[in-house]
Amino acid sequence: MTRVLLATDGSAHSIRAAQTLRAMAERDPSIHVTVFHVAPLPDIATTAATGMPLPASLPPDNWSEVAARALSVTVAALGLPPERVRECHVVGIPGEAILNEARQGRYDMIVLGRRGLSPLKELFLGSVSQAVLHAAPCPVLIVP
Ligand SMILES: Nc1ncnc2c1ncn2[C@@H]1O[C@H](COP(=O)(O)OP(=O)(O)OP(=O)(O)O)[C@@H](O)[C@H]1O
Ligand SMILES: [Mg+2]
Repeated sequence: MTRVLLATDGSAHSIRAAQTLRAMAERDPSIHVTVFHVAPLPDIATTAATGMPLPASLPPDNWSEVAARALSVTVAALGLPPERVRECHVVGIPGEAILNEARQGRYDMIVLGRRGLSPLKELFLGSVSQAVLHAAPCPVLIVP
């Protein structure tokens, strides 16, 4: 079995990542995918450095609804039979939570979008893809 961790925030970038993985998985039946969403908690270090007020970055009250939507659009784009897909969501700091899952679940590969939901486009890589790439325990596929 080839275990793949597909991280999604429900953005168009993560949908493209799912479509890329779909094409790979259609050719390789050993691929099994965990679709993973993190409801973002504030990163205390970043919050302190930027002086951004904590409540503004707390997960929205409807975070489980947001998570369910992010997972369902991504699972639909992945288009694999249910026995090859597992859905998972947690609350945490996205980069850290993805890395924890990658370590604990002994994945063969992590798949991410190059950017995500943020409207700021001046950086080439989003902070989550950068954090994951920086400390990943396995190969990472970043889909442009
Ligand atoms: N909350 C999350 N849960 C799971 N995966 C995520 C989450 N946020 C981002 N990702 C993954 O990381 C990829 C890159 O998103 P990232 O958040 O790094 O970029 P951004 O939103 O454009 O910028 P930033 O969040 O740094 O302002 C996404 O396409 C998705 O695959
Ligand atoms: Mg983001």
